[in-house]
This record gives sequence, C-alpha cells and structure tokens, in this order.
Amino acid sequence: MAITGSGSAVPATCLDNQGLTKLVDTSDEWITTRTGIRQRRLAKPSESLTELATAASRKALAAAGVQPQELDLILLATSTTDDLFGSACKIQAELGATKAVAFDLTAACSGFVFGLVTAAQYIRTGAYQNILLIGADILSRWVDWQDRSTCILFGDGAGSVVLQANQSDRLLGFELKSDGSQNNQLNLPYTSKSISLIQDVNIGQGNFHPITMNGKEVYRFAVQKVPEVIDKALFRANLSVDQIDWLILHQANQRILDAVAQRLNIPEYKVISNLANYGNTSAASIPLALDEAVQHRKIKSGDIIVASGFGAGLSWGAAIFQWGR
Ligand code: COA
Repeated sequence: MAITGSGSAVPATCLDNQGLTKLVDTSDEWITTRTGIRQRRLAKPSESLTELATAASRKALAAAGVQPQELDLILLATSTTDDLFGSACKIQAELGATKAVAFDLTAACSGFVFGLVTAAQYIRTGAYQNILLIGADILSRWVDWQDRSTCILFGDGAGSVVLQANQSDRLLGFELKSDGSQNNQLNLPYTSKSISLIQDVNIGQGNFHPITMNGKEVYRFAVQKVPEVIDKALFRANLSVDQIDWLILHQANQRILDAVAQRLNIPEYKVISNLANYGNTSAASIPLALDEAVQHRKIKSGDIIVASGFGAGLSWGAAIFQWGR
C-alpha cells in the first residue's frame, strides 16, 4: 500500500492566546512557555465536522488523482462526530463516493494512526484498492471554556489521506497500544439520570460533559510511552532511528514533542511541528501537520516518516511509512 495524497481544512475563526485572557485567568506567556501554542482555529456553530472533513478529503483526492467513485472505503477517525451513529456515511454522500463503504473509528488523539493501520490491513488482504482516511475533530464543542487547564490546549481541524494498493508496501512497521486501566486520566464522559418508564423499568438518559484531564499524568504518560512505541515500530520495520526523515507526533504540546525527540535522539530539524498555529486538534493533528509539510515541500516522495498518536483511552501507537507512490 502507498499513501498517495493528503489534504487538510481548518475553520476560518482564529482565537489567539491574548483572546483567551478575556475568558480565563491566563497569559500568552504562560500558554506559550508551557505548551508552545499561540492560536487555535475554532468551528462556528454552523460549521459541521462533515463539512470540514469533506473539504480536507476533496483536496486529498485531488492530490492523489483519485475520483470519489473509485473509493472502496472511507474511514473517519473522530471523537466529535456530528451524529452518534457516525458521520462517515454523510461524507460519502457529500463526496459522491457511491461505491465506498464508510464508517467511523474512535480512538481519540490516536485515531489517525489507528485508522492508518486499520486501512492498510484492507489493502494488504487485497479486499480494497482505494481508501480515504480522515482524521477530524471539533473538540471546541466539548471543552469547558471556563477551565484554564484544558481550554488553552485544543483547536478544531481536519486532515485526510488517500491510501492505494501498490506493488511495494510503504507501511514499514507499526505498534498500537491501549491501557484502559488509565482511562480516568482523560475523558469526555457521558452521564445519565435514571428515568422510570413504567414500574420496574428504568433507563438512563443524559448527555456528554466537557473534557476532564489530569494534565500532569497525561504528560508523563506521553513522554514515557511514545518513545517506547516508536522504538518498537522501528524494530518491526527493521530501521534505525537515523534512517528516519521526519517525526510527526500528535501535536499536543511542544514540550512533549521536544522531550520525545530528545529521548529518541532525533534532531530538531526532523521534528514536524505546527501546533503553535492550531493547538491540539486531536485525530486531525497528524494529517494536518503532514499535509502542511507536504504543501511546503518539506516532505518529499520516498521520505521515511514516523507518525505517533497518543491520548484518551489511554491509547497510543506509532506507524512508520514511506511517503508517496
Ligand atoms: N494559565 C495560567 N496558569 C495556569 C493555567 C493557565 N492556562 N493552567 C494552569 N495554571 C496554573 C495552575 O493552576 C498551577 O498553579 P498553582 O501552582 O498555583 O497550583 C500552575 O499553573 C501549574 O499547573 P500545572 O497543571 O502543574 O502545569 P503543567 O506544567 O503541568 O502544565 C499542561 C499544564 C496542561 C500544559 C501540561 O500538564 C500538559 O501539557 N499536559 C499534557 C496534556 C495533553 O497534552 N493532553 C492531551 C493529550 S492528547
């Protein structure tokens, strides 16, 4: 399989750190030094996840030279679907990808890497030839904008790639991990009230609540587990760390990016970072950073990329692939 095109889309509305100081007790200096984030894009109430994902996907399809009708599968990695039944089918309709089966995949900020590995399996088995993988999230819907420890981190966006059957397999190695025993470190929880329908028949109905996070623990988890999982993926790919051209980590925090790169002995110039402009866009962050680096002609055909996602679940994973046909 090969990854033959990328695209991305972000909302037009921009909220910088100065703007956040009007909302919570914080400062540009605190946010920049602790996270590296300077601004984030936020979806308007009228902007849907489907719209953002479709816009990113149109660009990825054009870059790959693939028609929507040629797609066999559309995989949408998201935690912030427009509809709990899923949004992938709506994207299929918007694109006119009439032949494609479409479904959502939820693995929080690891969603894109988990989706990439999932999509690759369909190609490896020969089941499908052309797959559209989208990572998209509108976390601004679920952030507590009064909570300064979380609201400074997140932004909205979508990124998309096209995977195609190819003579040589460009997914060189991967490793995926989950640890549900640490589930309480990062949540977007559903809670319900008991409602009595008739005597002895109670059901629960409620809503989702804003993101809760143990920032220190999540930070520690990322800095410890991400280098391990990348090492394992490198081992599976039979590659050494110096053979890597680019490191694209989930864009959570510049300090996490720096610490992981340092532990792996990857020089700064190989670390792709665009979180200053977008914040943490969850499942969108890796394809957004990837697409930007491709657009800027940093990433070229044949380059070897390590992508690693981590986040709620807890979940984390790494995939090593060679860019282009
Ligand atoms: N502005 C100003 N002060 C803030 C603040 C803000 N936005 N948020 C927290 N503070 C304060 C705290 O109240 C605390 O004050 P105190 O010492 O008087 O109690 C102080 O700053 C330090 O807070 P702390 O939570 O210890 O900061 P930190 O160095 O751990 O940084 C994060 C906080 C969230 C930036 C950091 O823990 C982090 O990035 N964690 C990983 C989160 C992440 O990436 N999550 C998504 C993964 S997918």
